[in-house]
Amino acid sequence: MRATVIILGGTTEGYALAEALASRPGVRVISSLAGRTDNPRLPAGETRVGGFGGAEGLADFLLTVQADAVIDATHPFAAAMGWNAHVGCAAAAVPLLRIERPAWQPQPGDQWFEADDWEGARARLLARGARRVLLALGRQELAPFAGLDDIHFLIRAVSAPDPMPPFADAELLLARGPFGLEDERALLAEHRIDTIVCKNSGGTATAAKLTAARERGIEVVMRRRPPRPQRPTVARVDEALAWLERKLDHPPEH
Ligand SMILES: NC(=O)c1ccc[n+]([C@@H]2O[C@H](COP(=O)([O-])OP(=O)(O)OC[C@H]3O[C@@H](n4cnc5c(N)ncnc54)[C@H](OP(=O)(O)O)[C@@H]3O)[C@@H](O)[C@H]2O)c1
Repeated sequence: MRATVIILGGTTEGYALAEALASRPGVRVISSLAGRTDNPRLPAGETRVGGFGGAEGLADFLLTVQADAVIDATHPFAAAMGWNAHVGCAAAAVPLLRIERPAWQPQPGDQWFEADDWEGARARLLARGARRVLLALGRQELAPFAGLDDIHFLIRAVSAPDPMPPFADAELLLARGPFGLEDERALLAEHRIDTIVCKNSGGTATAAKLTAARERGIEVVMRRRPPRPQRPTVARVDEALAWLERKLDHPPEH
């Protein structure tokens, strides 16, 4: 395989794919990170950081680096990038594959309330009279919950919100997954959590909280994934590698 492959990354799958491709002779792999995280872990191969400037900017970038394929390995909730990739790759005539981990599905015994947005999640907390809530969200997603002054929030985030939204009663727990089941059980018990708010990220790294919630009989307010363009999609890194092998056997002429 001789090719330039662009990975839209920032996810476990993006890092794993970069690692697998970087050691292949003849492959130039460039991972793209949005630049949201301070001191991000750097993927194997080359890295570029920051937005492209919309679909047009992405198309320009793809033509400049003479990309042969793009793998959209962005997080299931990074939908804007997904739509830009759809349009930008079509404009630059570069094949695009989506790699997306399957969504979590409710298991017997789960008490999930599924919401399409944070406003729906907020309304549910009010309607249910939640009192002690674990917010397992990104630091940019907290604001809709800040006005709920009768609720004690345990906010778990990878890095500190800056600025912190004006919560009346909140505790910040800085932690990066993966999280184990024992630790999740202990966390829910110690903080007497009665509701978890999270999004349907899928995967194993942060799934233990769902098991712990089921065991504890508490509600999970789960945000559904945003819509994405219909694209060829695989669930696993090895499937993406197989797709690349097929596509890049005869790369297009530049
Ligand atoms: N959303 C989450 O829950 C979550 C969780 C874990 C990791 N991440 C990762 O964090 C990044 C940002 O997520 P988001 O939800 O803010 O995305 P988003 O809403 O889909 O993207 C907003 C804008 O950020 C830029 N962008 C996003 N991903 C990029 C990438 N990989 N490389 C270059 N530019 C990118 C694009 O800017 P331009 O229009 O200027 O090109 C895009 O239009 C993604 O790469 C995602 O994989 C997100």
